[in-house]
Amino acid sequence: MNHSSLSTFLRPVLSLALVASGIGTAQAAVSVCVDTSSPTVEMDKAIAAAVAKQQNTTLTVHDFDGTGDDEEGFDLKEFNAMAAKDCQLVMGFPVDASSSGLPEGMKATSAYGRTGFVLVTPVAAAAHSLSTLPEGSEVAVAYQTTPNLYFADHPKLQASVHPTNDAAISALEQKKVGAAMLWRPSVVGYLAKHKEAKQFDYAELNEPHARWNLVALYDPANAAAAQAFETSIKALQANGTLGKLLDPYAVAVDDQAKSVAAAPKAAATGADNKAAGGNGEAAGGAKKVVTGSGEAAKLYTSAQAERGKADYAENCALCHGDTLSGRSGPALKGKHFANPAANFHVGDIFTIVSQNMPATQPASLEPKVYADIMAFLLQENGYPAGDKELTFDDAKASKEPLIYHGASK
Ligand code: HEC
Repeated sequence: MNHSSLSTFLRPVLSLALVASGIGTAQAAVSVCVDTSSPTVEMDKAIAAAVAKQQNTTLTVHDFDGTGDDEEGFDLKEFNAMAAKDCQLVMGFPVDASSSGLPEGMKATSAYGRTGFVLVTPVAAAAHSLSTLPEGSEVAVAYQTTPNLYFADHPKLQASVHPTNDAAISALEQKKVGAAMLWRPSVVGYLAKHKEAKQFDYAELNEPHARWNLVALYDPANAAAAQAFETSIKALQANGTLGKLLDPYAVAVDDQAKSVAAAPKAAATGADNKAAGGNGEAAGGAKKVVTGSGEAAKLYTSAQAERGKADYAENCALCHGDTLSGRSGPALKGKHFANPAANFHVGDIFTIVSQNMPATQPASLEPKVYADIMAFLLQENGYPAGDKELTFDDAKASKEPLIYHGASK
């Protein structure tokens, strides 16, 4: 089964199990790889076609299936190899607009589009922000996607977790829930397939990590092709072609991107700008930062991690495994858990742990115990011990990137 991990918070987004399928070497002037499991695949193809046309040349499209087919999920090496060999550009890679992160060794074009998570409500009871939903509303989300985090800041809402975006919107359609928080391209895809289900309204979520840039990834050797792509995108933007192609998927630019830890309450103001249409503008803001190479901070002491180890064994191991490699719950160590591309911070994961875990008795442990367990998780993900203990408040506020730094020593 799908081993969930931090990266799977973005599963509908970063579906990157890059199993390259029957591929030849690219010869055409424009060649792209597209993820057939991504809800933006048709748009990505259409944009690539428009770029090729703009360059007055031909287009080769290599399909790959980005859904994980094994426990390891995607393999970055395979991904890099694909980008080096099979196409100049890998379309449709979402980059968190409030931070950034790319697979190591890869470069990204500036954003050609923007999309994100939206609040979907029935037209008859339309709401445009979480704070305007009636108290006690049940809100459907897809398993381990970013919006699962939003319940922490909106305790009056009830989470209804579904295996996929389609299942979540279907629950809304059947009136089992009052609203849903979903990846906009998935909603667009669902509504296209279910023509009868037209009675929905959707609005941008003004919440942390809700907005994403779409970029194309490329191997540094293909820098010239990437530059030509960017030039074409600008031209397509200027003549309105790009806006039309992006329109159903687009969300507006968010200048006040906040992280979960920094935003205990999402501001109600500004949250009700309707998403309908979007502005289709390609924001050139994708930062070309490769995370994961920095020095890991010393956030805890080894004595604390030792205590955390015992607390973990008692409270968490049953579901997450004695060695943190996962059982009924996902793995809590390794590059898929602490994946730089997911752009989560220590504070984000600590919020999940302290508010949702143990899954059977959420928030039932002492604050100090949660902090100790977090120390143990950090140790197991290769963070070095220091001489200051991690406190509950520090853990919650921590902006330290959650990145696997290798096996603990
Ligand atoms: C009864 C089983 C169970 C227990 C006990 C449990 N968890 Fe979980 N945990 C889960 C399940 C299932 C998920 C995935 C579903 C979800 O995200 O809600 C999960 C998700 C998580 C996640 C999110 C991981 C990711 O990559 O998405 C973290 C972190 C986590 N648990 C930590 C802990 C810690 C720390 C403890 C002990 C204090 C603990 N859990 C106890 C079942 C459990």
